[in-house]
Amino acid sequence: MREAGRVVAEMHAAIRAAIGPGVSLAELDLIGRSVLADNAATSNFLGYHGYPAVICASVNEVVVHGIPNDRALEEGDIISIDCGAIVDGWHGDAAFTAGVGAIDAVSADLIGVAEASLSAAIAVMQPGAHLSDIGHAVFSVVEPTGFGTVREYTGHGIGRAMHEEPSVPNFGRPGRGPVLEPGNVLAIEPMVTTGSPLTSTLDDGWTVVTVDGGRAAHAEHSVAITETGPQILTLPGDRPTIVEAE
Ligand code: MF3
Ligand code: CO
Repeated sequence: MREAGRVVAEMHAAIRAAIGPGVSLAELDLIGRSVLADNAATSNFLGYHGYPAVICASVNEVVVHGIPNDRALEEGDIISIDCGAIVDGWHGDAAFTAGVGAIDAVSADLIGVAEASLSAAIAVMQPGAHLSDIGHAVFSVVEPTGFGTVREYTGHGIGRAMHEEPSVPNFGRPGRGPVLEPGNVLAIEPMVTTGSPLTSTLDDGWTVVTVDGGRAAHAEHSVAITETGPQILTLPGDRPTIVEAE
């Protein structure tokens, strides 16, 4: 799973570097495909329930599952990129949100809060913690900001399949559910909105948008519980274990 995670991190880095005004979503998908090919890895997104691409590219009011098309990015847009990889049958899955050129302050805050809520969630993923501590940590960061926390989509276990039990909500009371044990791997993925957290799905059957047209940001890592703390698998390089909670 470490190798799959490393490939996902490499996809993120290559796509992040290409994001800019005038670049199309389909071009970003091609970059994802080439990183997969360079690493002899395959995509867990392509063909998933018929999904046609190796990345989800979700712009502005699109929360998740945007299908890459010929839409060109414009200065001021925000875009979330969600992608995964399979290596030797093991899966990785992660997402980030980035601005295109200069973005407004609310959008920058939104991205920062999504990232901060993911970091707070990862920090509580110590062995012995309860599953619901994760969602509680996300919600505790997002709610005081006035941004919305999407409840209709969750994180998930990940391993030999992209989506395994349990699902990991981004809200809830702490101290509930299974105890986290070394060897568990979970994909944690808060989705944060500027307005209403409610979503609807477009006629393409995939694209999830905010009901009110407000912007959304998404941040995700695949995280392993180890004896000494959570370890983020979808980062490049040495991947330090997070020993202390915040
Ligand atoms: N990887 C997404 C998630 O974070 C699911 C994408 S479904 C796909 O769980 F069909 F778009 F691949
Ligand atoms: Co996921």
